[in-house]
Amino acid sequence: MVPEEHLQDREKGFWWLQVKVWSVAAVSISLLSACFIVHSVVTYNNSVYSKTIKKLSKLREYQQNYSSLTCVTGETEVEDWSCCPTLWSSFQSSCYFVSTVRQSWAQHWKNCSMMGAHLAVINTEDEEDFIIQNLNEDSAYFMGLSDPEGQRHWQWVDQTPYNKSATFWHSDEPNDPSERCVVVNFRHPSRKWGWNDVRCHEPEKSICEMMKIYL
Ligand SMILES: *[C@@H]1O[C@H](CO)[C@@H](O)[C@H](O)[C@H]1NC(C)=O
Ligand SMILES: *[C@@H]1O[C@H](CO)[C@@H](O)[C@H](O)[C@H]1NC(C)=O
Ligand SMILES: *[C@@H]1O[C@H](CO)[C@@H](O)[C@H](O)[C@H]1NC(C)=O
Repeated sequence: MVPEEHLQDREKGFWWLQVKVWSVAAVSISLLSACFIVHSVVTYNNSVYSKTIKKLSKLREYQQNYSSLTCVTGETEVEDWSCCPTLWSSFQSSCYFVSTVRQSWAQHWKNCSMMGAHLAVINTEDEEDFIIQNLNEDSAYFMGLSDPEGQRHWQWVDQTPYNKSATFWHSDEPNDPSERCVVVNFRHPSRKWGWNDVRCHEPEKSICEMMKIYL
């Protein structure tokens, strides 16, 4: 017969073994989790860091063309930054600049394109409403619409198809085939902003538009 004490010793030994095995398992799992968490944090920081570095180097490239950009970040810090040149106004996916120099439509066309932009193309009523907020009621502003051949075939400078239901002509306009360029202006009698066809060499102000820059 095995003595009582020996039996208890053996049971004790077995119990201790189990405790040891479980302790080793628990410590291993904790270590693994710790490694995983540390790895995730490091990876996340690296990706935020490298994305920021990439944005800043792109920003430096654009600074060769625009002395200063104003950028707005998305919901989280890793999302896209959308930028307009400083002093341009921003609406939806475009940036707008009002040129108060008075010159011909062709000269404005050139000026806008030198800035990587084009004369404003107005696609919706919301866009028209936004643009007129920045204008002076006593001036007329060339936009990117013209009738190059005097055939009343209206063309947008960016090839957007002319959509008659999204136009904002003053009543009784356009009224003269020798007036082949379009301005937006304010009419005092009707107290309304709208479009008017004018001669292309007439000196007027203008509105340039460009796509926002996404970094
Ligand atoms: C800056 O302007 C030049 C000339 O217009 C153009 O070739 C270049 O792509 C522009 N750079 C950027 C980052 O837009
Ligand atoms: C447009 O170009 C003319 C020269 O052709 C210049 O005098 C004028 O300041 C420019 N305007 C803008 C807004 O860049
Ligand atoms: C033309 O403009 C109207 C009014 O904004 C719009 O409902 C319609 O979808 C436009 N058509 C095209 C082809 O863009």
